Amino acid sequence: MSSVVLLVAVLFFLLLLRARRRRRECEPPLIQGWIPYIGMGLDFRLDSQAFLKKNQEKYGDVFTVYIAGKYMTFIMNPLLYPSIMKHGRQLDFHEFTDQMAPVAFGYPAVGSGRFPDMGDQIQRSFRLLQGDNLVPLAESMMANLNLVLRQDFLGGEGGATEAVGKGWSTGGLYDFCSSVMFEATFLTLYGMPAPARRHGDMAALRRHFTKFDGMFPLLVGRVPIWLLGRTKAVRETLIRYFLPQRMQRWANTSLFIARRSAVLEQYDALSDTDKAAHHFAMLWASVGNTVPATFWALYYLISQQEALQAVRQELHRVLQLPEAQGPQQSEVMISKEQLDQLFLMDSAVNESLRLSSASMNIRAAQEDFSLRLDERRAVAVRKGDVIALYPQTMHMDPEIFTDPQTYVYDRFIEDGREKTDFFKDGQKLKYYRMPFGSGSSMCPGRFFAVNEIKQFLCLLLLYLDLEMEEGQGTAQLDNSRAGLGILLPAKDLRFRYRIR
Ligand code: HEM
Ligand SMILES: *[C@@H]1O[C@H](CO)[C@@H](O)[C@H](O)[C@H]1NC(C)=O
Ligand SMILES: *[C@@H]1O[C@H](CO)[C@@H](O)[C@H](O)[C@H]1NC(C)=O
Repeated sequence: MSSVVLLVAVLFFLLLLRARRRRRECEPPLIQGWIPYIGMGLDFRLDSQAFLKKNQEKYGDVFTVYIAGKYMTFIMNPLLYPSIMKHGRQLDFHEFTDQMAPVAFGYPAVGSGRFPDMGDQIQRSFRLLQGDNLVPLAESMMANLNLVLRQDFLGGEGGATEAVGKGWSTGGLYDFCSSVMFEATFLTLYGMPAPARRHGDMAALRRHFTKFDGMFPLLVGRVPIWLLGRTKAVRETLIRYFLPQRMQRWANTSLFIARRSAVLEQYDALSDTDKAAHHFAMLWASVGNTVPATFWALYYLISQQEALQAVRQELHRVLQLPEAQGPQQSEVMISKEQLDQLFLMDSAVNESLRLSSASMNIRAAQEDFSLRLDERRAVAVRKGDVIALYPQTMHMDPEIFTDPQTYVYDRFIEDGREKTDFFKDGQKLKYYRMPFGSGSSMCPGRFFAVNEIKQFLCLLLLYLDLEMEEGQGTAQLDNSRAGLGILLPAKDLRFRYRIR
């Protein structure tokens, strides 16, 4: 027995030795902890922001942390961000997603050599989420939002008011945002099951999605899926939803998803299940962050009725509508052009993203090189190491945003125009708001995402009075997705609504 203990101890010790690296000249300070493989992973997961700030105080703006088998060099000062963006050749974004996404979503790695040109074709397809393509997307989203909202929450087909009457209805705010945005986004991107207008099993799909999403941080943290209970079965159910023979029957599929299907069809090495897994991954990308982002945008507006009133007034002005606009009137359509004129709403959405986003921007070093930080400083980086930005610490920096914990809906407006000067150490920042990542890897869906959140807010503010129920306290952030995007609220909060 004791020999087994001894053996384990020796192995452990060897691992420990193997795991430790020695800091070389010109390399940033190194923090590696004593636990093999995991390194500082636990401290980081517990409260990433606090962990990073503590180390910044101790070691300065740039330091390397050993986390889950990776050496990650954090760049903490946003004044240094532009120089990171300039190192595009040595610092690659896709290496990380190419490793992470196949493991999380269950498809074969895109860059493995078996799928020539696929990565580039997929990148090119992202243009179908941008520019002029946003116009049909916005139109379709508007119709789908109206449809789902009216049928599920405003009392039936034509939006008759009888069912809801003039009284208040109540609900969970997160659940409300999630059910409307999930389905309307799904219909807009993937299409509808012609001849029916809506898919019959959306609630089940969303339930499975939520289960999977809860496990997502663990999958990304490389916990094997067989350790995660029913996660694998849930993922298989989600993937089956997108099998080619099912998707072929859907009508009004967006150009973007149609193009994605066409790209996938070119590769015989992909099984039908692999193709479906790619589509499922896009579902995650398109609603995984948008739903919580919508929750925070609406939550802050409802919690601050002055903000809500100001945004609503702007909306009435831009649409040139009389004050109240019940859903009993004809369906409101809001053009992409009108959406673009809603500056206050834009600022309010940006402000809620500032407060709720905690994404980490990751780049993998392609070679040993010297990373120039500014005129005075450069640090040595080793091939295979990771350079990481953690913009939440910038979003919450009191020097850049006064009273950073407070929601100020018009924080990004000054003298009726967008405010773009934010400072650190007396210098104007090039990057001060990064919920969608940065540089070449920036989220390709960001324009569509902001549009759909604004459309959702428009309809609610036009149709409904909205209030939070009293005595629940304020919404708190659940940190379990720290590093991966928009954080969820720690628990759902109740709100009430009635037709205006
Ligand atoms: C508020 C909502 C959203 C947020 C906060 C968000 C945020 C992000 C972030 C932080 C990244 C990684 C970028 C980087 O590391 O530099 C990303 C990537 C991505 N997002 Fe979004 N996103 C949102 C909505 C959407 C939507 C609606 C779509 C699609 C319709 C989408 C599609 C994608 C795709 C495809 C990628 C991967 C890009 C690549 O591999 O190059 N996102 N998103
Ligand atoms: C489907 O798309 C066509 C043309 O793109 C459009 O005319 C029609 O209204 C759409 N149908 C629905 C129900 O959205
Ligand atoms: C809000 O953020 C987007 C980028 O995500 C930017 O294009 C837009 O100008 C911002 N608007 C305001 C008022 O801050």
